[in-house]
Amino acid sequence: MTFSTARPPSWQVCTVCGNELLETDAAIRCRACGGLLEVRHRRPDLPGPVLRGLFQTRCCTRPDTTPSGVWRFQEIVLPTAGANPVSFPEGNTPLLYRGQIAEWAGVPELLLKHEGQNPTGSFKDRGMTVGMTQALRIGARAVVCASTGNTSASLAAYAAQAGLPAFVLVPAGRVARGKLAQTVGYGARVLAVRGDFDACLRLVEASSDLLGLYLLNSVNPFRLEGQKTIVLELLQQLGWEPPDWIVLPGGNLGNTSAFGKALEEAHAWGLIDRVPRLAVIQAQGAAPFARGFAGGFLQRVRVDAETVATAIRIGDPASWDRAVQSIRYTDGVVVSVSDAEILAAKRVIDHAGVGCEPASAASVAGIRHLTATGAIRADARVVAILTGHMLKDPEILLSAAGDAALKEIDATPEALARAVEQTPPE
Ligand code: F0G
Repeated sequence: MTFSTARPPSWQVCTVCGNELLETDAAIRCRACGGLLEVRHRRPDLPGPVLRGLFQTRCCTRPDTTPSGVWRFQEIVLPTAGANPVSFPEGNTPLLYRGQIAEWAGVPELLLKHEGQNPTGSFKDRGMTVGMTQALRIGARAVVCASTGNTSASLAAYAAQAGLPAFVLVPAGRVARGKLAQTVGYGARVLAVRGDFDACLRLVEASSDLLGLYLLNSVNPFRLEGQKTIVLELLQQLGWEPPDWIVLPGGNLGNTSAFGKALEEAHAWGLIDRVPRLAVIQAQGAAPFARGFAGGFLQRVRVDAETVATAIRIGDPASWDRAVQSIRYTDGVVVSVSDAEILAAKRVIDHAGVGCEPASAASVAGIRHLTATGAIRADARVVAILTGHMLKDPEILLSAAGDAALKEIDATPEALARAVEQTPPE
């Protein structure tokens, strides 16, 4: 269908064939051609400076205003969502400066947007609050996702709040313990699939409709509306003075898609007058998008993924086309870094007292790589997105530290004194 008369505030459109759907249509993909859907909003009635002022009055965590860093931007996220979204609240994450990390990465003006400070410890909460709100609006009876772990933890928490049964499919044996523990703890049904993430996603996409389960992976366009607010919030924190670069890890490419959309809209609607460039960083063993970029995106690349950063161990990213659009629109770049580089960056981030999970450290590893090649200039203003919390992946912390980090001693003053003396210097 197409809307012949005045447009509603929001609607959905197929990104492949342009078919239009009502905002409250429960379809996850276009019924005509199977393409991914996108939510579109009418240009807000208010001009950019007035919108910015409105967002500012709601900032940041006062319960009498809008305590969510997602719903603060409701006019450009989901204007018709109503006054009671399923919200923790989420967002309001800090923008940090740490000299050690900036120096290691090679850019003095490096800020870290720590999305691991969201309620379930990852940026997924920003998408999930919108996705779960939409699930209730369309009358969903249960929700489902495939996940490398963070989406599942977030889905489980928000489904518990919404009172909906939740099912998650994860690649058996390949999900970090912290994420699994959260998911089970919030009360979701965890199904460990004998296969990788890509197999899990294919399975839920093929079966969710038949089973009456509302799919809340990032192929669900409402998730991306929420994830746009990572960019909106960091722009607000910078006084709407855009950085030169925003750097993020890429897996299924939902965030890359959301970031491009946020920037396009922010520019079109007068919130910013300059568009930052995006740099997407993949792990070398899971780098189909980086390979696609190197080949001018002439073809879609699929790989068998392997990396220590299990969150981004994805070989066939679902949001490929939209992400290509984001890279083209922002004159962005896509590169890959080795697991060793990811772990080196993670060590620097952890030892600066910030901490993050391995996939998040790919951002900072990528900046070091891009400053070394000259793609990012040393005088650039850069924001790196740290996507997940340090405690998501406890095994990697303990195995990287080794046995010496957990020294057992007798409960005597002598043993303690000996141990203190023996402590190796940093
Ligand atoms: N960083 C973390 C910590 C993630 O959990 C993910 C994705 C990404 C980066 C990549 O983001 O997929 O939007 O490109 N995790 C998904 C999950 C796949 O199931 O939790 P993307």
